[in-house]
Amino acid sequence: MLSDGIAISVKGLGKRFDEKWVVDGVDLEVPAGSVFGFLGPNGSGKTTCIRMICGLLEPSSGSGRCLEFDILKQRERIKREVGYMTQRFALYEDLTVRENLLFVARAYEVDTPRLVADEVMEKFGLADRRNQLAGALSGGWKQRLSLAAAMLHEPRLLLLDEPTAGVDPKARRDFWSEIHELSRAGLTVLVTTHYMDEAERCSDLAYIANGKILTRGKPGFLTRESGLSTFRVHGEKLFELANRLRQFDGVEQVAAFGTELHVSGPDAALLTRALEANCGPGARYEPQETLLEDVFIHLMERARR
Ligand SMILES: Nc1ncnc2c1ncn2[C@@H]1O[C@H](COP(=O)(O)OP(=O)(O)OP(=O)(O)O)[C@@H](O)[C@H]1O
Ligand SMILES: [Mg+2]
Repeated sequence: MLSDGIAISVKGLGKRFDEKWVVDGVDLEVPAGSVFGFLGPNGSGKTTCIRMICGLLEPSSGSGRCLEFDILKQRERIKREVGYMTQRFALYEDLTVRENLLFVARAYEVDTPRLVADEVMEKFGLADRRNQLAGALSGGWKQRLSLAAAMLHEPRLLLLDEPTAGVDPKARRDFWSEIHELSRAGLTVLVTTHYMDEAERCSDLAYIANGKILTRGKPGFLTRESGLSTFRVHGEKLFELANRLRQFDGVEQVAAFGTELHVSGPDAALLTRALEANCGPGARYEPQETLLEDVFIHLMERARR
């Protein structure tokens, strides 16, 4: 058991490839039992962090532990206790569902590989597809198979790297139900995603850009802490209005949502002034809740500057 209730704790974690620090001084604490969302733009260092945390990649700097094991000295132990679903499909396309799971069971040296493979197929609804080639499965079923493979050795911590990329909404929703069920049963889950609706479903979030953590906290906390105000604008000639608003002081983001614009910025007074000056009789505006997406775009812009 973890004495302090923290499943992952790293400090000053860094990775240098050639001369470039792609992960740079990352401090991260993942509470045991949480569904922890790890977010950030493409190339920001999420996958690299995950690989260092689960013992697959040696850090260039920093230290820490994953479960009760040292990430520098006990990498083999970590691999046994952690399930890792990689960003790209990592199973054999020309083996069947069952053969893939058997292969993984043997790689983990479980005592009864056949039994374990059967059980996990049953648990993840794969039994009917046991003889299908993995390469012939749809995206959603491939993802289920990958999850089953990552869960087969009954890990205490699950690392999911963009598990739902390219998966349809129904399969995504089912997948998240599964994740929450596993979490309720005591599993800690760290998951990367670019989908904001998925971020909202996490208990905790951290946001990384250019290898550095920019912010962390509960989803509601992050929107409040960002200090962003957002208005929704509807009416006529919104395209022209959007272009005008973008030129104004205090307007940081203008995004089209269906037949509305969402306009946000860090200073509510300046933002209101810009809206007053630009929204003629054909357009109306009203306050609207700031979305996580607005917060992350704001953070990305700030990091770029
Ligand atoms: N083995 C490697 N050698 C050199 N550079 C690498 C290597 N692996 C990753 N990088 C670089 O490190 C940076 C971070 O990559 P990483 O894959 O961790 O980002 P990511 O946040 O997972 O991105 P994405 O959202 O696109 O998956 C990128 O610039 C990438 O090109
Ligand atoms: Mg990645």
